[in-house]
Amino acid sequence: MSKRVLLYTLVLVLFMGLGIAISGTLTPQEQLGKQLFFDKNLSDPVGQACAACHGPNVGYTGPKSIINATIVVYPGAVHTRFGNRKPPAAAYAGDSPILYYDAVQGLWVGGMFWDGRATGWFLGDPLAEQAQGPFLNPLEQNNASPEVVVEKVLASNYQALFLQVCTDASLYYECIGRAIAAYERSKEVSPYTSKYDYWLKGQVVLTPKEQWGLALFEGKGKCAACHAAPVFTDFSYDNLGVPKNPLNPFYYEPEWNPAGKAWVDTGLGGFLESAGYDPAIYEPERGKMKVPTLRNVAKKPNPLFVKAYAHNGYFKSLHEIVHFYNTRDVLGSCSAKKFPLPGINCWPQPEVSENLNVSEMGNLGLSSMEEDAIVAFLKTLSDGYTP
Ligand code: HEC
Ligand code: HEC
Repeated sequence: MSKRVLLYTLVLVLFMGLGIAISGTLTPQEQLGKQLFFDKNLSDPVGQACAACHGPNVGYTGPKSIINATIVVYPGAVHTRFGNRKPPAAAYAGDSPILYYDAVQGLWVGGMFWDGRATGWFLGDPLAEQAQGPFLNPLEQNNASPEVVVEKVLASNYQALFLQVCTDASLYYECIGRAIAAYERSKEVSPYTSKYDYWLKGQVVLTPKEQWGLALFEGKGKCAACHAAPVFTDFSYDNLGVPKNPLNPFYYEPEWNPAGKAWVDTGLGGFLESAGYDPAIYEPERGKMKVPTLRNVAKKPNPLFVKAYAHNGYFKSLHEIVHFYNTRDVLGSCSAKKFPLPGINCWPQPEVSENLNVSEMGNLGLSSMEEDAIVAFLKTLSDGYTP
């Protein structure tokens, strides 16, 4: 063997070893889930993967600054079609229980989506059930049927892995959902590598400001009442009175939204109504949205990148949403704005004014330095921190 060939062979072997080492951190099922999550062929027309709306570099939520700053809602594989909500994080969702009513607390808990409609009642796992939805949603990946998705997977370059993991042909589509859920729960997507996590293990210290923010988060700010550690959600639902986002393209899609501009996002209540529950059950839930995880809320590729917050992305910065919690009931209300502006000193009417949470927010009496400290604490929840 010539020296050059030897060198090339060595380099090749090294790379292969590296490849195995990297993929070796995932189980075959998680590895399959990863292939499915990033596969742009699993849409009609091709081009849209789950990652188009759940990007790793922003904590698996909307990865495009310009969209977050404006319409918030991501276009589907058919680019003229839009859903109606902001993509929540696909990370850290795996601990949400099967949707149930907790009679003691008088709260609905669990499920997936802002309105809980991926309940987990069918597969016994809300995350796996959720993962079966987007491939078939005409406003998202738009495939005609589960069989079409399975066919595409069988024709993919990870076919062998698929056949290794999914052995029962009658359960192929279910197996796809479960593999994606396994990947979303894996150490790669939900790694618990934030500064906060290293602080819990005693490996780093929080700055005095971050420490103060944590104390406010758990105390005067009342945040931990709903955003409970370690995932920073208790998987329940609440109506915070978030105003409408007038730029939501769903208002202008008569084919999918016959109500047009009069459409109201009724969240959990709307789902329970469509699922056939009595008004006595769904009316108290109208306007309530799932409490989202706060892990990675501040994670972004650069400081100028805009992220949108809440189910309709009305807020464009953490300062804005914290200010809203603090002052919703203190500042006067403004007439609905054509364009939501930062630094506002009044708030438009809530999108849904029934069932508003008035006991845990609205008038927290935080100073602007205290608001800043809470934001500083939220920034310690971004994964990928090196201690
Ligand atoms: C076109 C953008 C888009 C695509 C593509 C997409 N999603 Fe989503 N995803 C969303 C939106 C919007 C929501 C919230 C919808 C709602 O609440 O009604 C969501 C919700 C979720 C949730 C729920 C998280 C929670 O805490 O409730 C998970 C998990 C998720 N998506 C994973 C996926 C997976 C897996 C795929 C691919 C199979 C995918 N998404 C494809 C936009 C998208
Ligand atoms: C009563 C329960 C409750 C309390 C208390 C609460 N939150 Fe929330 N939080 C929610 C719910 C519900 C949402 C989603 C609301 C919506 O989309 O309409 C949310 C959304 C958020 C978001 C947006 C996350 C995203 O991905 O869009 C942030 C950030 C946030 N809360 C931070 C805080 C902070 C900081 C505090 C304390 C000052 C706090 N929350 C107190 C329930 C609560």
